[in-house]
Amino acid sequence: MATTLESLQLDALWMPFTANRAFKRAPRLLVSAKEMHYTTSDGRQVLDGVAGLWCVNAGHCREPIVAAIRAEAGQLDFAPGFQMGHPLAFELATRLAGILPGDLDHVFFTNSGSEAVDTALKIALAYHHANGEPERIRFVGRARGYHGVGFGGISVGGIENNRKQFGARLPAIDHLPDTHDLARNAFSCGQPTHGADRADALEAIIAERGAETIAAVIIEPVAGSTGVLIPPVGYLERLRAICDRHGILLIFDEVITGFGRLGSAFAATAFGVTPDIMTVAKGLTNGAVPMGAAIVRSAIHDTLIDRTPSGIELFHGYTYSGHPLAAAAGLGTLDVYEDEGLFARAAALAPYFAQAVHGLRGLPHVIDVRSLGLVAGIELEARPDRPGTRAFDVFLDCFEGGALIRTTGDTIALSPPLIISREQIDELVDAVTRGIQRVA
Ligand SMILES: Cc1ncc(COP(=O)(O)O)c(C=O)c1O
Repeated sequence: MATTLESLQLDALWMPFTANRAFKRAPRLLVSAKEMHYTTSDGRQVLDGVAGLWCVNAGHCREPIVAAIRAEAGQLDFAPGFQMGHPLAFELATRLAGILPGDLDHVFFTNSGSEAVDTALKIALAYHHANGEPERIRFVGRARGYHGVGFGGISVGGIENNRKQFGARLPAIDHLPDTHDLARNAFSCGQPTHGADRADALEAIIAERGAETIAAVIIEPVAGSTGVLIPPVGYLERLRAICDRHGILLIFDEVITGFGRLGSAFAATAFGVTPDIMTVAKGLTNGAVPMGAAIVRSAIHDTLIDRTPSGIELFHGYTYSGHPLAAAAGLGTLDVYEDEGLFARAAALAPYFAQAVHGLRGLPHVIDVRSLGLVAGIELEARPDRPGTRAFDVFLDCFEGGALIRTTGDTIALSPPLIISREQIDELVDAVTRGIQRVA
């Protein structure tokens, strides 16, 4: 039954990362979705330019995924994951290990990206503990990093707004500088040329703190939530080499970049740099059932398991780790990715997408366009007195005009489902063009 705005009570729901008062004055409600489109509560079709929230890489309500969830819901609604198991969780872990690069072969399931990050940080600490280096307790994150909203994630993350209301955070954290360099890299298509040397800040942190105190470095290979920051050529390789030299684990948070966004299964495969631990979520189940994972290289997993006295090796887990419905959704999603060759499709479409978004250069207030695979950031000059509002006004204009985009600060992010057609890319970019032209 269609939900009407008139009959809906909005007060009781406290909405996440939302200006609740403004939203409830002018709500935007989605009631159904199919492939590239949402339907709104007033019956409008909206082209999804952001895969929901960077999750729905295979497009909405895909039949194989829906069928897999439906079948499992009627067969096994819940199975305890502590000292018990069920087949689909093992099957999904095995399938993932098959597409992950290198020996990233051991999968710990969570229910979200935030939990995946906290799990990865805890595994890093537990690994060093098992490996006879318990003094390695420090983490290095990066400015403008987003790693979800757990206390671990906001601590290693580099977004002050996500921390300032909460006081407490993990105690031993340093941050690398971000890689954004508008002066030298504006309007880069693909990886920007300048900035590999920003990885050297890690050497400075090591010199100050001592490598023997640092457990891990965590970064998003492409920072998504803070405005699509693509790593400069050579930057990830440099970070990897420094970590290797000092026995520091490298964690890639691939919650956004995983599952085809860059035209390859993972950013690690796209850039040819393999981390020690990877976090994923979102596209893992096509957003259909919440699920995340921390994925660990064999050597780390084996050290932790083998060097721990008999009994439980890692005192960590969630009631819903590897939930049957999420595992079913994950398997259905991997089937769709594979059967339809969606990662290769994203790679094939990337040049067309890049050409379309780079056509926005020259519009009023556009100070940068950056793109890689099927993700793009379009940065607008901030209004001097009200940062963030210009891009948000474009978002509102696009939504009214039938396209869903996302904004972070004054950057517009586009990350459509990998099934988008060329015509729909044109439609999306036209909507953004009109929005930018209309918004002063
Ligand atoms: C890189 C990254 N890590 C972690 C998260 C947190 O994921 P979740 O919202 O599922 O907790 C996000 C969410 O956007 C993300 O982009």
